[in-house]
Amino acid sequence: MNEEDMLEEFDETDETPKKHGDDITIEDLPGVGPKTAEKLVDAGFNDLMSIAVTPVGDLMAAADLTDSAGRKIINAARKLLEMNFMSAEEMKEKRKSVGFITTSSENFDNLLGGKGVETQALTECYGKFASGKSQVGFQLAVNAQLPIKKGGLDADVVFIDTEGTFRPERIEQIAEAAGIDPEKALKRIHIARAFSSDHQMLLAEKVPELIEQEGKNVKLVIVDSLMGLFRSEFIGRGTLATRQQKLNKHLHTLQRLADRFQLAIYITNQVMARPDIFFGDPTTAVGGHVLAHAATFRVYLRKSKGTKRIARLVDSPSLPESEAVFTVDTCGVRD
Ligand SMILES: Nc1ncnc2c1ncn2[C@@H]1O[C@H](COP(=O)(O)OP(=O)(O)OP(=O)(O)O)[C@@H](O)[C@H]1O
Ligand SMILES: [Mg+2]
Repeated sequence: MNEEDMLEEFDETDETPKKHGDDITIEDLPGVGPKTAEKLVDAGFNDLMSIAVTPVGDLMAAADLTDSAGRKIINAARKLLEMNFMSAEEMKEKRKSVGFITTSSENFDNLLGGKGVETQALTECYGKFASGKSQVGFQLAVNAQLPIKKGGLDADVVFIDTEGTFRPERIEQIAEAAGIDPEKALKRIHIARAFSSDHQMLLAEKVPELIEQEGKNVKLVIVDSLMGLFRSEFIGRGTLATRQQKLNKHLHTLQRLADRFQLAIYITNQVMARPDIFFGDPTTAVGGHVLAHAATFRVYLRKSKGTKRIARLVDSPSLPESEAVFTVDTCGVRD
């Protein structure tokens, strides 16, 4: 047996580190030395979970790895995390850890299953201008800070503003009405204005830093709006495939955040008129199938008379399609 074969054999047998739980770092993975580890961390892969759930191509690109090395690392991460099937009963148990953020409208909360927006899920509100998409986002940004018994998660919020429509004064107004010190409310909302779709994607990738390095208890990430920059940058049919690929990556980042940190994702989305619908409301969300599949809850918002708004649940894993009426006034979202 030559030296290389011996090394190979050694690798195979000594694949599983003898450490447990939080002691395991990415350097314990087979084939990850200090150099590769540094590249991985630079690319945002700083724990086993982020590696375990990444497509091999992404990992290869991030750390200049060969296909087989990439696969080996991912498989080892999965093994260490014991990522296997779970019984439906276990899943029911896991779902008990799902948290909720109230919308401040009982009707709207009921539409979403009773308690509002869920953690570990992506909730999308789409609709025309002034339908209330951003206002719902502002209300959630305040409500996430409420104690659990008042419908919040006593948490911090990340707000990625792609349209420049975030207004601190409006947050203060809504916080005051919700019984939260407006100054404290502003401190717990971490805002970033995105100026391009790449910038927007990067900001979402930076959320783990805020949580792990700065110790912020982020339980809600808002992207208002998800598609605005993508739509303005990728114009014309020829660019659609590239746009959807990037969008897909961005949505994966958001979903991974929701899973890893057990937080809620709220995104707003624009609409367009579908030319192929002649009866009923031809308004449909932009973003195509990629987004339609990524959103756990899809809600269509319409402006009615005065402060009245109508929310329609369009897609959810276990709830019927239905509608709810709520209002948007000085206090924020109400019944
Ligand atoms: N301070 C306030 N007091 C009362 N109502 C308000 C206040 N601020 C906003 N609104 C209501 O909210 C509406 C704007 O809603 P919102 O900002 O959520 O629209 P949007 O759906 O995000 O639209 P866009 O697509 O333009 O972003 C206003 O037209 C108004 O009816
Ligand atoms: Mg808006």
